[in-house]
Amino acid sequence: MEIKKLIELALDAKEKMTYTPYSKFNVGCAVEMEDGSVYQGGNIEIVSYSPTICAERVAIFKAVSEGHREIKKIVITGDNKDTFPCGVCRQVIREFSKDPEIIIANSTEDYRKFTLEEILPHSFGPEELNNV
Ligand code: THU
Repeated sequence: MEIKKLIELALDAKEKMTYTPYSKFNVGCAVEMEDGSVYQGGNIEIVSYSPTICAERVAIFKAVSEGHREIKKIVITGDNKDTFPCGVCRQVIREFSKDPEIIIANSTEDYRKFTLEEILPHSFGPEELNNV
């Protein structure tokens, strides 16, 4: 899918799919999988805090639970300018692709692309355990 269209879906997720009564910090994500299917997610917060889940993991887990295993592109947009995925979400992205296009977006006109190697260098991935 065209990047601008995927950004629109991430912005839409930030607007409509979050539940953030505690931080009031909204993040939206849209992930495109290997076959072109797209899943959206927003962050969901829980009063005891630790069960809270990031927008990226909501979108990715929706895709994985529908049988997908390979991320092609992922767009992240948050209330801050240039909201990057947290460390846990970087590792989850790594699980489902070694080289996805990672797009950090503020709008359809203002975005930057990153490789996973740039934001999670020297990563530990699923292939590692094939050696033992
Ligand atoms: N959050 C995300 O959804 N994604 C990120 O990459 C960073 C943080 C959420 C978690 C929490 O609901 C709120 O932002 C504040 O940390």
